[in-house]
Amino acid sequence: MSTSVAVGRIKPCRIIDLPEFTDPRGSLCVVETGIHVPFVIRRAYYMFDIPDGAARGAHGHRRLEQLIIAVHGRFEVVVDDGFTKHTFVLDHPSKGLYMGPMVWRDMVDFAPGTVGLWLVADHYDESEYYRDYEEFLRDARSLA
Ligand code: TYD
Repeated sequence: MSTSVAVGRIKPCRIIDLPEFTDPRGSLCVVETGIHVPFVIRRAYYMFDIPDGAARGAHGHRRLEQLIIAVHGRFEVVVDDGFTKHTFVLDHPSKGLYMGPMVWRDMVDFAPGTVGLWLVADHYDESEYYRDYEEFLRDARSLA
Protein backbone atom coordinates (compact mmCIF):
# COMPACT_ATOMS: atom_id res chain seq x y z
CA MET A 1 0.00 0.00 0.00
CA SER A 2 1.62 3.25 -1.10
CA THR A 3 1.36 6.21 1.28
CA SER A 4 1.39 8.91 -1.40
CA VAL A 5 -0.65 8.80 -4.59
CA ALA A 6 -1.62 11.42 -7.12
CA VAL A 7 -5.26 11.70 -6.06
CA GLY A 8 -6.32 15.29 -5.50
CA ARG A 9 -5.75 17.80 -8.29
CA ILE A 10 -5.32 20.75 -5.92
CA LYS A 11 -3.38 19.11 -3.08
CA PRO A 12 -2.74 15.35 -3.28
CA CYS A 13 -4.01 13.05 -0.55
CA ARG A 14 -1.31 11.41 1.52
CA ILE A 15 -0.59 9.55 4.71
CA ILE A 16 1.16 11.66 7.34
CA ASP A 17 3.11 9.68 9.92
CA LEU A 18 2.49 11.35 13.26
CA PRO A 19 5.09 11.37 16.05
CA GLU A 20 4.45 8.59 18.54
CA PHE A 21 5.88 8.55 22.05
CA THR A 22 5.79 5.16 23.70
CA ASP A 23 7.02 4.28 27.18
CA PRO A 24 5.91 1.81 29.87
CA ARG A 25 2.84 4.01 30.54
CA GLY A 26 1.56 3.63 26.99
CA SER A 27 1.62 5.65 23.77
CA LEU A 28 0.87 9.23 22.80
CA CYS A 29 0.59 10.79 19.35
CA VAL A 30 0.60 14.49 18.56
CA VAL A 31 -0.72 16.69 15.72
CA GLU A 32 0.37 20.33 15.53
CA THR A 33 -0.75 23.00 13.11
CA GLY A 34 2.01 24.00 10.71
CA ILE A 35 4.24 21.11 11.78
CA HIS A 36 2.32 17.94 11.00
CA VAL A 37 -0.62 19.41 9.06
CA PRO A 38 -0.35 22.23 6.51
CA PHE A 39 -3.47 24.05 7.76
CA VAL A 40 -4.80 25.67 10.91
CA ILE A 41 -6.99 23.22 12.85
CA ARG A 42 -10.28 25.00 13.61
CA ARG A 43 -12.61 22.06 14.27
CA ALA A 44 -12.47 18.47 15.44
CA TYR A 45 -15.16 15.80 15.28
CA TYR A 46 -15.19 12.08 15.82
CA MET A 47 -17.29 9.09 14.86
CA PHE A 48 -18.05 6.06 17.01
CA ASP A 49 -20.73 3.35 17.46
CA ILE A 50 -20.61 2.75 13.72
CA PRO A 51 -22.83 -0.24 12.88
CA ASP A 52 -21.42 -3.20 11.02
CA GLY A 53 -21.58 -2.54 7.27
CA ALA A 54 -22.28 1.19 7.58
CA ALA A 55 -20.63 3.64 5.18
CA ARG A 56 -19.97 7.29 5.92
CA GLY A 57 -18.88 10.22 3.84
CA ALA A 58 -20.21 10.11 0.26
CA HIS A 59 -19.37 13.76 -0.15
CA GLY A 60 -16.68 16.14 -1.33
CA HIS A 61 -15.51 19.55 -0.14
CA ARG A 62 -14.99 22.62 -2.24
CA ARG A 63 -12.33 24.13 0.01
CA LEU A 64 -11.85 22.15 3.21
CA GLU A 65 -8.57 20.51 4.23
CA GLN A 66 -8.55 17.80 6.86
CA LEU A 67 -6.62 15.04 8.59
CA ILE A 68 -8.41 11.77 9.34
CA ILE A 69 -7.15 9.39 12.04
CA ALA A 70 -8.43 6.01 13.23
CA VAL A 71 -7.70 6.67 16.91
CA HIS A 72 -9.08 3.19 17.61
CA GLY A 73 -9.84 0.35 15.21
CA ARG A 74 -9.66 0.44 11.45
CA PHE A 75 -11.48 1.74 8.42
CA GLU A 76 -10.85 2.54 4.78
CA VAL A 77 -11.18 5.84 2.95
CA VAL A 78 -11.82 5.67 -0.79
CA VAL A 79 -10.70 8.96 -2.33
CA ASP A 80 -11.66 10.15 -5.80
CA ASP A 81 -10.64 13.38 -7.54
CA GLY A 82 -12.84 12.79 -10.58
CA PHE A 83 -10.01 11.10 -12.49
CA THR A 84 -8.38 8.60 -10.14
CA LYS A 85 -9.54 6.59 -7.13
CA HIS A 86 -7.42 5.18 -4.32
CA THR A 87 -8.17 3.36 -1.09
CA PHE A 88 -6.27 4.36 2.05
CA VAL A 89 -6.36 2.03 5.05
CA LEU A 90 -6.35 3.74 8.43
CA ASP A 91 -5.43 1.14 11.03
CA HIS A 92 -3.16 2.87 13.54
CA PRO A 93 -3.46 6.08 15.63
CA SER A 94 -0.09 7.32 14.30
CA LYS A 95 -1.34 7.39 10.68
CA GLY A 96 -3.22 10.46 9.49
CA LEU A 97 -4.78 10.79 6.05
CA TYR A 98 -4.39 14.31 4.72
CA MET A 99 -7.12 15.36 2.29
CA GLY A 100 -7.26 18.64 0.41
CA PRO A 101 -10.13 20.30 -1.45
CA MET A 102 -12.06 18.78 -4.37
CA VAL A 103 -11.79 15.13 -3.36
CA TRP A 104 -14.82 12.85 -3.02
CA ARG A 105 -14.54 10.37 -0.13
CA ASP A 106 -16.32 7.24 1.04
CA MET A 107 -15.47 5.77 4.44
CA VAL A 108 -16.12 2.01 4.54
CA ASP A 109 -15.25 -1.27 6.26
CA PHE A 110 -15.27 0.03 9.82
CA ALA A 111 -14.04 -2.58 12.28
CA PRO A 112 -16.24 -3.02 15.37
CA GLY A 113 -15.53 -0.40 18.03
CA THR A 114 -13.69 1.96 15.67
CA VAL A 115 -13.37 5.60 16.65
CA GLY A 116 -12.41 8.00 13.85
CA LEU A 117 -11.14 11.52 14.46
CA TRP A 118 -11.32 14.37 11.94
CA LEU A 119 -9.16 17.47 12.38
CA VAL A 120 -10.31 20.11 9.94
CA ALA A 121 -9.39 23.58 8.75
CA ASP A 122 -12.68 25.39 9.12
CA HIS A 123 -16.02 25.56 10.86
CA TYR A 124 -18.94 23.47 9.61
CA ASP A 125 -20.49 24.94 6.47
CA GLU A 126 -22.96 22.76 4.59
CA SER A 127 -22.83 25.07 1.55
CA GLU A 128 -19.17 24.08 1.09
CA TYR A 129 -20.07 20.38 0.60
CA TYR A 130 -20.70 18.46 -2.59
CA ARG A 131 -23.42 15.92 -1.78
CA ASP A 132 -24.20 15.16 -5.42
CA TYR A 133 -21.54 13.01 -7.12
CA GLU A 134 -22.43 14.16 -10.66
CA GLU A 135 -22.07 17.81 -9.66
CA PHE A 136 -18.73 17.00 -8.00
CA LEU A 137 -17.50 15.14 -11.11
CA ARG A 138 -18.42 18.01 -13.40
CA ASP A 139 -16.51 20.56 -11.30
CA ALA A 140 -13.57 18.25 -10.50
CA ARG A 141 -13.03 17.37 -14.16
CA SER A 142 -12.96 21.03 -15.10
CA LEU A 143 -9.74 21.24 -13.04
CA ALA A 144 -7.86 19.11 -15.60
P1 TYD B 1 -22.46 13.87 7.78
O1 TYD B 1 -21.87 14.97 6.95
O2 TYD B 1 -23.62 13.13 7.21
O3 TYD B 1 -21.32 12.83 8.15
P2 TYD B 1 -20.37 12.06 7.11
O4 TYD B 1 -19.01 12.60 7.35
O5 TYD B 1 -20.50 10.61 7.36
O6 TYD B 1 -20.84 12.44 5.73
O7 TYD B 1 -22.85 14.50 9.18
C1 TYD B 1 -23.81 13.88 10.03
C2 TYD B 1 -24.58 14.98 10.74
O8 TYD B 1 -23.71 15.74 11.58
C3 TYD B 1 -25.24 15.96 9.78
O9 TYD B 1 -26.54 16.22 10.27
C4 TYD B 1 -24.40 17.20 9.88
C5 TYD B 1 -23.83 17.12 11.28
N1 TYD B 1 -22.52 17.76 11.43
C6 TYD B 1 -22.40 18.94 12.12
O10 TYD B 1 -23.40 19.52 12.60
N2 TYD B 1 -21.17 19.48 12.29
C7 TYD B 1 -20.05 18.90 11.79
O11 TYD B 1 -18.93 19.44 11.96
C8 TYD B 1 -20.20 17.68 11.03
C9 TYD B 1 -18.99 17.02 10.41
C10 TYD B 1 -21.44 17.13 10.88
